[in-house]
Amino acid sequence: MKTVVVYYSRFGTTRTVATALAGALGAEVREIRAVRECGFLGMGFRSVFGIRMAIRPMNLDFGGVDRVVLCTPIWAGRPANPVRTFLQEAKLEGKKLAVVFTTGGGETGPALETVRRLVAGKRVEVSLGGTIVTRKKDEGALRSEATRLAAGLAR
Ligand SMILES: Cc1cc2nc3c(=O)[nH]c(=O)nc-3n(C[C@H](O)[C@H](O)[C@H](O)COP(=O)(O)O)c2cc1C
Repeated sequence: MKTVVVYYSRFGTTRTVATALAGALGAEVREIRAVRECGFLGMGFRSVFGIRMAIRPMNLDFGGVDRVVLCTPIWAGRPANPVRTFLQEAKLEGKKLAVVFTTGGGETGPALETVRRLVAGKRVEVSLGGTIVTRKKDEGALRSEATRLAAGLAR
């Protein structure tokens, strides 16, 4: 199964998780980058009110790819806004989409529902790839949690 790992990261923890996952899965990595980043309040505000954040040009074509492993931080209970933009713009029709959340320890159910809603109508098979609580974890701890998740995703 050909897998691509896609991630957005504002502060680096999701980047660490995504690159470790991709290394373990032998997968290509693609980064979602916001056109303009904002501060903590701006991120929370945009998340709560669902304000679109534009993303920089990236490869949104997943032809020949079976599965996308999407790594996203949770912002105010929802996937980070640039990830929401990615889900609307990417050509994900007919793909498997495993979502990996990085969080401060909050719930992820509503965020997974948001992902499902954003790809509704694209025939995407959405599943939860896992959740990693990043608070107070150094890079080594994040990498080893990601490697553990990768073992589940490789099955
Ligand atoms: C604006 C903002 C809102 C957040 N809201 C939540 C939340 O609702 N629940 C939660 O568990 N973590 C929340 N977090 C924590 C992040 O999801 C977590 O720190 C994540 O690992 C950050 O990823 P990054 O380092 O790749 O940017 C929030 C972080 C930010 C910056």
